[in-house]
Parts: sequence; C-alpha cells; structure tokens
Amino acid sequence: MSDNLLFDKIYAEDCLVTMGKMAENYIDLVITSPPYDDLRKYGGYVFKFEPIANELYRVMKQGGVIIWVVADSTRNGTESGTSFKQALYFKQIGFNLYDTMIYQKSNPVPLSHRRYEQSFEYMFVFSKGKPKTFNPIRIPCKSVGTKKNRAVSKANEETYSGRRRDEITVVNSTKIHSNIFTYGVGNNDKTKHNAPFPEQLVYDQLISWSNPCDIIYDPFMGSGTTAKVAALNQRHYIGSEVNEQYCIEAERRIESALQKQKA
Ligand SMILES: C[S@@+](CC[C@H](N)C(=O)[O-])C[C@H]1O[C@@H](n2cnc3c(N)ncnc32)[C@H](O)[C@@H]1O
Repeated sequence: MSDNLLFDKIYAEDCLVTMGKMAENYIDLVITSPPYDDLRKYGGYVFKFEPIANELYRVMKQGGVIIWVVADSTRNGTESGTSFKQALYFKQIGFNLYDTMIYQKSNPVPLSHRRYEQSFEYMFVFSKGKPKTFNPIRIPCKSVGTKKNRAVSKANEETYSGRRRDEITVVNSTKIHSNIFTYGVGNNDKTKHNAPFPEQLVYDQLISWSNPCDIIYDPFMGSGTTAKVAALNQRHYIGSEVNEQYCIEAERRIESALQKQKA
C-alpha cells in the first residue's frame, strides 16, 4: 500500500492529487467516466485530460485495465471527436486500445430529432500490456452441438485463437458475450448526481477484468457506483471526487449497501 493512502476510501480532491500519493504499478482496474466535453459543469472544475492519462499509465499495474466510458458533445452540427482523441492519446502513451466496447442505452432520452437518436456511449478498454485477468461473461449458444465449418481468412487467424482454415468445429453450449452491452439509464439509489453509472455496467466490467482483493480505482467517482459495486464484490476501492457533497453521499450509499448485504 502506498504511504498516506487508505483502501476503501473516496478522497474529496482532484484525482491528480490522489494518484500523486500512489506508487507505480499499484492499481488493477479502473472503471470510470470522465466529464464529457463541457456538457456538465461540476462546479466549473477544469478537467486536465493529458496529465490524468499520464498518471493513470504510471499507477496501473502491468496487465491492468481501464474501462473509460465516454461520449461526445455535438455543437454546430458536428460531434467533438473528444472520445476518439482521448483513445488515441491513451494509445500514444503506451496503453493498448484493447477493445472499443459499446454501452447501448435501452431507454435513450430523445434529443435533437435532426439525426438518428443518440443511444450509446463508448466503453474503451485500455490495457497496460496484455490484460492479466479476463473472466468473460458467457451466453447460451442457440445452435449448441451442431458442426460448423467456419473458414477464417488468413488475416483473421490471430483473432480467431489460431483456428485453422477450414477446420470443422462443434458449437459449444455457451459463447463469449459480444462487446455491446445494453443497460437502462437510471439512478439506482436515487442519488443527487446527474450522470451515475448503471450498477450492472460496473458489475459486468468488474467481474470481467478483476478478481477478489484487487484494487479498483475511479478517478471521477461521482455518486460512488464503482466503489459500491467493488465493495459488494470483495474488491478494494479507492476513489477521487472533487465535489465534497458527492463524496459524503457516496460513502453513505456504500455503507448502506454493505449493511443490507450483511443483513
Ligand atoms: C461523469 S461523472 C462520474 C459519475 C460516476 N460514474 C457515477 O456513477 O456517479 C464525473 C465526475 O467527475 C468529477 N470530477 C471532475 N473533474 C475531476 C477531477 N479532476 N478529479 C476528481 N473528480 C473530478 C465531477 O465532479 C463528477 O462528479
């Protein structure tokens, strides 16, 4: 454990200050959602993306993973492109852009009516080297037991786990979930925060990329969803949140969830 830093605590401060207290190679998994462009003001706080990304690279363990949930604002008829700029910056400083996952909203709020309704956000998966943990969510296969000849092009052989061209395979009972996850937008614990994560989103990413006792960090903790789900699933959490009121509310929310779990 780094000096001056406690587990299972949300720090009411800029995430750069919290990460400044962390040793290198310290965090197993980050699940977070930064402020999107200037869509919400969060007390007028300035979000310094590049120094934050650099610090994240320093504190992540080798094989650690970051789930970065983000979307663009649209102004004067064009999307900002911030999500992709951030993804490319993470790649430039050494992370793998391991996957570009989609968080599809089952109940999107209708917005402009001038284009198809916006109904997803990116869930970028950045890894420092090869992810050290992957416990994939599996779903049933409808065609279980049938034989398939799934010819794979030469270029895709690595993606398909080295399956040979023209190899006959028998369909298993389950398969790995697609990289599009669908959730309803909602406020599970009726917090005052206006952009909380769906708890199931955090749960699915948490079990996929971490194991019990791992250290989970959220640099933009908001209402504390990442911390709550980590605490309920035997992981340690550390959080940063500049708004002190959100921190107090998040600590209460976690305490109450743990009490309910014990009862
Ligand atoms: C999109 S919200 C996160 C919501 C969170 N995922 C949840 O489930 O409630 C982003 C949060 O980051 C906080 N924030 C903005 N800049 C910050 C910084 N530099 N350090 C720590 N927190 C910051 C904002 O106050 C806001 O609550």
